[in-house]
Amino acid sequence: MTALLPRPNSLTRGSGEYPLDASTRVTAPDELAGVAAWLVGALRPATGLPLREGNGDGSGITLTLSSELDPEGYRLESSPAGVRIEGGDESGAFYGAQVLLQLLPPAVYRKALVGGVRWAVPSVTIEDSPRFAWRGVMLDVARHFLPKHDVLRFLDLMAMHRFNTLHLHLTEDQGWRIEIKRYPRLTEVGSWRRETQVGGAPDSPTDGRPHGGFYTQDDIREIVAYASARAITVVPEIDVPGHSQAAIAAYPELGVSGEPLEVFTRFGINYNVLNTEESTVQFYLDVFDEVMDLFPSPFIGVGGDECPKEQWAADARTQELMRERGLADEEELQTWFIRRLDDHISARGRRLYGWDEILEGELAPSATVASWRGMTGARVALRRGHDVVACPDDVVYLDYRQSELPDEPIPVSISLTLEDVYAFDPVPAGITEEEATHVLGGQANIWTEHMDNPRTIDYFAFPRLCAVAEALWSSGERSFAAFTERLDPHLARLDAVGVEYRHADGPRPWQTRPGILGRPATREERAVHMAELVANIAR
Ligand code: ACM
Repeated sequence: MTALLPRPNSLTRGSGEYPLDASTRVTAPDELAGVAAWLVGALRPATGLPLREGNGDGSGITLTLSSELDPEGYRLESSPAGVRIEGGDESGAFYGAQVLLQLLPPAVYRKALVGGVRWAVPSVTIEDSPRFAWRGVMLDVARHFLPKHDVLRFLDLMAMHRFNTLHLHLTEDQGWRIEIKRYPRLTEVGSWRRETQVGGAPDSPTDGRPHGGFYTQDDIREIVAYASARAITVVPEIDVPGHSQAAIAAYPELGVSGEPLEVFTRFGINYNVLNTEESTVQFYLDVFDEVMDLFPSPFIGVGGDECPKEQWAADARTQELMRERGLADEEELQTWFIRRLDDHISARGRRLYGWDEILEGELAPSATVASWRGMTGARVALRRGHDVVACPDDVVYLDYRQSELPDEPIPVSISLTLEDVYAFDPVPAGITEEEATHVLGGQANIWTEHMDNPRTIDYFAFPRLCAVAEALWSSGERSFAAFTERLDPHLARLDAVGVEYRHADGPRPWQTRPGILGRPATREERAVHMAELVANIAR
């Protein structure tokens, strides 16, 4: 088995193989004890082998660190004598261990003893390191809550594909998903809604069924530690000043009108936004303090996307605040709000991370921009010297439908096939070499308005995430034909894990949603719409 995915920089086949058996031992220095524990835990269930700790004599499986390798890079050499994995750092050694699993039969991914399989590692030499430092997935656990158990499973799937960043979208109009000790009503009130819109059309009906859930701070600590043991950083996002109706439902004084609102039961861009009183800023500084205590990530997400300005424009008090602060328009007010958070986040030694709308105003130089409305935000941010994470909607929005077939479930926006996604390149055309050094990498975004359970997330995410993984990891020439040849055996691994991916010929009957309208668009319609949206940052 050498159908590695993502594709490594170089792979040379040797002769013979190393069969794992009851005498196989695993040796690692103290710094790699966590990786060794992960590897043994991953190999043991299906093989049933004891895989006892080795004595460092070079036999069996040996993990080591090498200062000659790049960060996150690894070298794996297997021969009939054993397997040696060197990592440039702990993450690199972990990726070497992940690749060792891919060298074994796919049944190694099963969670209980598999009989009748020969667990032999073919002789190979692999040298590998990632193209980008930010290889991310954004998961929206706010529109539909994803139980903690399923977040951990998703982290395992990310690690299997060498993603290293989970951007967790924790708050929305439709739900607040993280316990904040100082403001308990955020979850008491904000973590559930009365009912939910079903479908993507403006007049789609609601289901009359409550939906909710949230992560306690203990859950968050577990998620962060579980991710860390898999070389993944969790970047939290608390979305402001739009997408905040769940918070306003919990604390009406955060809203512009002060009137009670319920947690939003519909989808789409919401007119109700936060006010910008000093007390509201202080509320969020408190929230971000708890968030920064929980998440060690250098990057802290503030959202900043899709904040309609009508409510601010119509509100006398907001206009008064703008005059007091010397702000010319509502875009400057949004920037003022984001900058207040940025000052606080930066003072704690972290970096603000936001959607490309934050480019509507001047930002601290360390602010990092997620370019989602195509690549315009990436180009503008790079020109202004900011770091960029590319996540253009027309390439890596995995909530978009996967084909033109009429039975794609709740079809949204344009069709993004596996081949479309495989073409992902986070580096915009026509930028300078210096600007290119500020492209940290990219991420796929999984918005869950129309994914109400983990099975549906599997369908939308896979195998498109396999293509994203390779686009972000692998250097050099890319060939979709060669990718699909390696994807076939890789799908056997996903089968063994139990991932309900989309098959190439379309959805299985139970993956369709007959009669539920989506909101499909043509590429032309989408392009016109996006050009209008980004006009104010592109000028
Ligand atoms: C976004 O898709 N609103 C970032």
